[in-house]
Amino acid sequence: MAEELDIATGSKAEKYIGLIPQISALVSGEEDVVANMANVAAALKETFGFWWVGFYLVKNDELVLGPFQGPIACTRIQKGKGVCGTSWEKKATMLVPDVDAFPGHIACSSASKSEIVVPIIRDNNVIGVLDVDSEHLNDFDETDQKYLEQLCEQIVPFIS
Ligand code: SME
Repeated sequence: MAEELDIATGSKAEKYIGLIPQISALVSGEEDVVANMANVAAALKETFGFWWVGFYLVKNDELVLGPFQGPIACTRIQKGKGVCGTSWEKKATMLVPDVDAFPGHIACSSASKSEIVVPIIRDNNVIGVLDVDSEHLNDFDETDQKYLEQLCEQIVPFIS
């Protein structure tokens, strides 16, 4: 296992392209799902400096907070509620440039200004979401969507 991340310089896309194989290598050598989710959150936070990065997992028909990096967060989210619950319900990535403009956004932290939530899908079921928050408006775009979706597809066997 690599003990240190090798963080690529250059564009956001170049950083993701450098990061995703390292994360895959990291999680494929470990069978503990909590350890793997914790390292995925840490690797994203360390590479991009995001305000908050973490997982919510579907348990008994609600989302429950999982491993994350950042300030404390709300622990349970119902299906269809907030950005995370909407991503779960729609089985779709939610790209939110301004959280205040998203009806029903759940403000875990007033510092969070934009957000992207990617559903984690196994056997056609959403088993959780990856949530990334920024303290800057409009901080996520199609590049984040493309690579975070790719990341979630690659790691699903190792986090569930
Ligand atoms: N903002 C999210 C809640 C989770 S926190 O951002 C960590 C939402 O609206 O679902």
